[in-house]
Amino acid sequence: MSFSVHDVARLHTGSLHSCYQMPLPYNCGLTVQTVEDERLVESGWHVLSSARSRGYATEAAEAVREFARELGVDHLIAIIRPNNVASQRVATKIGLTLEREVHKNGGPALIFGADLSQ
Ligand SMILES: CC(C)(COP(=O)(O)OP(=O)(O)OC[C@H]1O[C@@H](n2cnc3c(N)ncnc32)[C@H](O)[C@@H]1OP(=O)(O)O)[C@@H](O)C(=O)NCCC(=O)NCCS
Repeated sequence: MSFSVHDVARLHTGSLHSCYQMPLPYNCGLTVQTVEDERLVESGWHVLSSARSRGYATEAAEAVREFARELGVDHLIAIIRPNNVASQRVATKIGLTLEREVHKNGGPALIFGADLSQ
C-alpha cells in the first residue's frame, strides 16, 4: 500500500481533535517528525496524571502501533527524553527498541523505533 507522511498529518489533525473531545483520560496518536533531516512517523502518548500507572498508555500505544501497521507505515518511532523512564517503558512494552540518541528541540532525545513491515 502506498503511504505518504501527509496521510498521517491529515489523520493526526482529525484524530487528535476527536480525541480531545472524548471523555478519555489519555490521548495517543501519530504525527510526522523530522529527525536529523529524515521525515518519520512518530507515536506519542499522554495520560492525565490522575490516571497513570493503570496501563492506559501501553494499551493505547499498542492500538496505535497496529493502526500504523494497517496504514502501511514501515517504520514507527517514539522520541523520548532520557529522563522519561515511564515513556521509555511504554515504548519497550510495545516492541520499540532504542535506535539512537539525537539532539532535538533544545535537548537530548532518545529515538526508539521498530520496523512494522515484518
Ligand atoms: C509516559 C506516560 C504516558 C505513561 O502513562 P501510564 O498510563 O502511566 O503508563 P502505563 O500504566 O501503561 O505504564 C507503562 C510502564 O511504565 C512504568 N512506569 C509508569 N510510571 C513510571 C515512572 N514514573 N517511572 C518508571 N516507570 C514507570 C509502569 O510501571 C509500566 O511498566 P510495567 O508494566 O513494567 O510495570 C505518562 O507518564 C505521561 O502521560 N507522562 C507525561 C507525558 C509524556 O511524558 N508523554 C510521553 C512523551 S515521549
